Amino acid sequence: MITGKPFLTTEQIRDKVTELADAISRDYEGREVLAIGILKGAFVFFADLIRALRIPVTVDFIVAASYIKTSSTGETKIYYDVRENINGRDVLLIDDIIDTGISLNYVRERILSLGPASLKICALLDKSERRVVDVPVNYTGFKIPNKFVVGYGLDYENKYRNLPYIATFKKET
Ligand code: IMP
Ligand code: MG
Repeated sequence: MITGKPFLTTEQIRDKVTELADAISRDYEGREVLAIGILKGAFVFFADLIRALRIPVTVDFIVAASYIKTSSTGETKIYYDVRENINGRDVLLIDDIIDTGISLNYVRERILSLGPASLKICALLDKSERRVVDVPVNYTGFKIPNKFVVGYGLDYENKYRNLPYIATFKKET
């Protein structure tokens, strides 16, 4: 169940998206960016972020999922790979939340193997205390404590992705 009031409101998220898009637009000025969204979780954030950018953007997606068996090992698989030619492009990977960092790191290595001119990472949420793999994140929206959150693309069992805000979630007992 969703607990109490929003953890991050629609307004807080909107302001943060604008702030991130301004920083990205400034850093990439005069260049074109290839924005790659990591599905499914990033789709809402991705759609809002790219519409706030003031630079030319091309989009692509990648679907990855990890199965964490213990806190220190994880197996990640790519279910849908990028279709754009990555070689020589300025790539911005966009993710919803970084938890252990295992899945994002796997996707990062996959993209790096395709020879981009540059690769940067943008994540809306960062649970840094849970990190197992150290992934370099260039643009972070909110650093959050170790709580399970849903909404704005984030799910529990593939539900709640359509909430227009982010809420903390507790399993019913
Ligand atoms: P990581 O490989 O442990 O960093 O896993 C990151 C992925 O786990 C995210 O892209 C989400 O799909 C999922 N995830 C981690 N924490 C949460 C959460 O609090 N709510 C919903 N999904 C989460
Ligand atoms: Mg998920």
